Amino acid sequence: MSNIAEIKLNGKTHEFPTIVGTENEGAIDISKLRDLTGYITIDFGYKNTGSTKSAITFLDGEEGILKYRGYAIEELAEKSNFLEVSYLLIYGNLPTETELTAFQNEISRHTLIHEDMKKFFDGYPSKSHPMGQLSALICSLSAFYPESLEVNQSPEEKNLTLIKLLAKMPTIVSWIYKKSLGHPLIYPKNQYDYVTNFMNMTFGQRTEEVVIDPVVIKAMNTLLILHADHEQNCSASTVRMVGSSDCNLFASVSAGISALWGPLHGGANQAVIEMLELIKADGGDTEKWINKAKDKNDPFRMMGFGHRVYKNFDPRAKIIKKACDDVLEKLGVNDPVLDIAKKLEAAALSDPYFVERKLYPNVDFYSGIIYRALGFPTNMFTVLFALGRLPGWIAQWKEMHENKEPIGRPRQVYTGHTDRNYTDIKKR
Ligand code: SDX
Repeated sequence: MSNIAEIKLNGKTHEFPTIVGTENEGAIDISKLRDLTGYITIDFGYKNTGSTKSAITFLDGEEGILKYRGYAIEELAEKSNFLEVSYLLIYGNLPTETELTAFQNEISRHTLIHEDMKKFFDGYPSKSHPMGQLSALICSLSAFYPESLEVNQSPEEKNLTLIKLLAKMPTIVSWIYKKSLGHPLIYPKNQYDYVTNFMNMTFGQRTEEVVIDPVVIKAMNTLLILHADHEQNCSASTVRMVGSSDCNLFASVSAGISALWGPLHGGANQAVIEMLELIKADGGDTEKWINKAKDKNDPFRMMGFGHRVYKNFDPRAKIIKKACDDVLEKLGVNDPVLDIAKKLEAAALSDPYFVERKLYPNVDFYSGIIYRALGFPTNMFTVLFALGRLPGWIAQWKEMHENKEPIGRPRQVYTGHTDRNYTDIKKR
């Protein structure tokens, strides 16, 4: 017998059904609330509001659990690779060897972008933020693939569109970086796997050994896997919202890239390094900056700390922190901000302000330190987050369409002026 929720309102009791997910998460189905009561709910930031049912990613914020299609993130980060995890998220199961080879071959056929798109790169100022370029360039793919605008694409045509997006994203990301340096563009090489190809297009002017160092490729696969999906976060919800209007995949993902750019979301990985550099330049007094983060009158926030869902350690942060030590040691990199980050973390985790509010390091706290050790500039960090999150956005968009979900259109409570009559400007 499933639970029934009761709401007593204006002397009447209304009953609402509940649903329970496969991981025992419960929800009250309020689809009939307004019809029955005339009331809506309100929940700023949707902190208690579910927008959908999804079979892609499960996370338990209290226990610090994250699973993609039932597989623990710890296992995938250690044993899998980013292309295989992308397949898992998008198609629902780990691929067989034949399926993975076909997937890689399909992607390898579409890694080039139309030569006319290169003119777009020339138009951007070299110091312009890569996230603004990426959002525009990904949306512009719809101009070169007008068939992707068709609402009633067949499943095969829809699949080709997502393959093209997955295939072209690394090329676009690496070319944004190369153009910012004024370096010649490096074209995709089909003999490389997905991540190695990206690293070669990005750093290919260095020696082959440096570019495809197994330590570097493993670290990049791990980082991209850890960022691949995170259920209904701000950017994934944006992709779903835009896609719910039957907007094409390129424009929906472009909107997700814009949402991710914000420093409260994916932009935090850049903000963390800028914060650590600021603390280092200020003499490394972590106590001072912890107190600033606690001071309500001070706009400073501890970037990379806190999370809407995780009220325990973000499992991804644990994996990245360990990878930090491994990668920097193997690459012989000594980054003083890593010591500051560890001091900051230790101090915050013993401070009542952070403990009471269950503020722990999140995925963004250590990731920038590895990105920097791999040779990426700070303003490319959020673009790397987007590269990792792409299969998750695609999976969420695909699931929403397969479930034939309605266009998203939240309600509001109006608090503005009531009736007023127009007055002549001379009498105002
Ligand atoms: C990502 O949702 C996802 O899944 C996102 C993500 C993903 O994979 O998609 O995990 C990726 O976006 C990670 C988060 C990256 N952002 C940051 O690191 C920015 C710093 N963090 C905060 O701004 C904040 O913690 C958020 C935005 C992450 C969460 O904000 P909430 O859930 O709206 O919580 P809140 O702002 O209401 O904070 C609750 C309390 C407040 O204090 P009180 O009003 O109770 O006194 O905690 C305080 C906040 O002031 N607080 C912080 C803080 N984060 C929260 N105080 C100081 N420093 C911080 N970082």
